[in-house]
Amino acid sequence: IDYIALHKINYFHWHLTDDQGWRIEIKKYPLLTEVGSTRNGTIIGHFPGTGNDHIKHSGFYTQDEIREVVKYAADRFITVVPEIEMPGHAEAALTSYPWLGCPGTGPYKVEETWGVFNNVFCAGKDSTFQFLQNVLDEVLQLFPGPYIHVGGDECPKNNWKLCPLCQARIKAEGLKDEHGLQSYFIQRMEKYINSKGRKMIGWDEILEGGLAPNATVMSWRGEQGGIDAAKQNHDVIMTPGGWVYFDHAQVQKDDSLTIGGYLPVEKVYGYEPIPKELNTEQAKHVLGGQANLWTEYISDPSKIEYMIFPRMSALSEVLWSPKNQRSWILFKPRLKQQFKRYDLWKSSYSKATLTNTLTRKKIKGKK
Ligand code: ACM
Ligand code: ZN
Repeated sequence: IDYIALHKINYFHWHLTDDQGWRIEIKKYPLLTEVGSTRNGTIIGHFPGTGNDHIKHSGFYTQDEIREVVKYAADRFITVVPEIEMPGHAEAALTSYPWLGCPGTGPYKVEETWGVFNNVFCAGKDSTFQFLQNVLDEVLQLFPGPYIHVGGDECPKNNWKLCPLCQARIKAEGLKDEHGLQSYFIQRMEKYINSKGRKMIGWDEILEGGLAPNATVMSWRGEQGGIDAAKQNHDVIMTPGGWVYFDHAQVQKDDSLTIGGYLPVEKVYGYEPIPKELNTEQAKHVLGGQANLWTEYISDPSKIEYMIFPRMSALSEVLWSPKNQRSWILFKPRLKQQFKRYDLWKSSYSKATLTNTLTRKKIKGKK
C-alpha cells in the first residue's frame, strides 16, 4: 500500500479467495478459514512441479486485520476492492462446506497445485446463492468502497454439464447452455450487490453468455473483453496479460522462478490503456488500468518488490500522462534516478533494463 501510494495509484484490488486458500474471516461460516485457509502442501518448482513439499501452508486475515488494512489504505487515498471468487476458483470454499458443490462431485481438497479446477459452486442450488449473499453481507461491512469484485474467470463447466440441479436451472430459466448459466449466476449476484448500493466488477469471462446489466469488466485475456464491454457502454478496467501482468518474467531468461511470459519494463511503458478500436465516447468507459501480481511463485516481500519494480513506476507514468508526453527514450535514463529511490526505500528491483543490449542499441540509434 505504501508503494502504490507513492506511485499515485488509487485502488488496491485484493484477491481474497481461491482454490488454494480462503483468506478472509467470515463469522457466519467459520470453516472457511478453519478448513479452507490451510493446504497440506505445495508443488515444488514450476507447474506441474517436481513433487510436493508436504508442508502445511495456511493463513488468513481476521476481520479486524482487514479493517486495519482498509483504513491504512484510505488514509493514503486508496480504495480497496475485495475479490470473492465465484463461480470458479472455489475449491477451498467447497472443501469447507461440501454442500456448495454439485451433487456427486468431490471429495474436495484445498488445492496444492496451481491452475484451474473443475470443482466450482453449484449454480442449481438456491443455498449456494444464499451462502454467497451471506458472505458478501460481511464483506460489504468491511469494505466501504463502491466496488465488489466477484471474479468470474476460469470457471470450467464440466460439473454443471453433469449436475441435475444445474441442468434443471438451465431449463427453468430458459438458458441456452452452461455459459448462460454462468451469466445467470453473475447477474443474480449483481442484483444483490446493486441492491446494497454497490457496483460489481468481474473478469472478462462475464461477457460470455451475456453481460450483467451494470457490470464493470476487467479485461485480462488481452484487450478484446474491454473493447467489447466499452462498445456495450459498460465501464472497463484494462489489465491485459501481455502488458501488465507483473508476475511474468522481466528478463528473457528467467533469473528466478516465475509463471513465465516475458514482460520487460519497455513493453509496460509502451502500453496504451485506451484501445484504438474505441471512439471518443466509448473510450470514456475505460476507467483506467491495473497491474496484477499473482503470488504462486512469490513467497517473500522482497520478491514482490523485485517483480513490481521498475514496472510499477513505468505503468504509473503511462496511466497518469497524456499520450503525447510519454517517451521511452526519455523515461529510460530517468530510471537511474528512480533506482536511487528504490535504494533509499531499501527495496529490491530489477536492473534488467540497464543490461538489455537490445534497448541500449535502440537508444544509441536515436541519438
Ligand atoms: C486471471 O488472471 N485469472 C484473472
Ligand atoms: Zn450443480
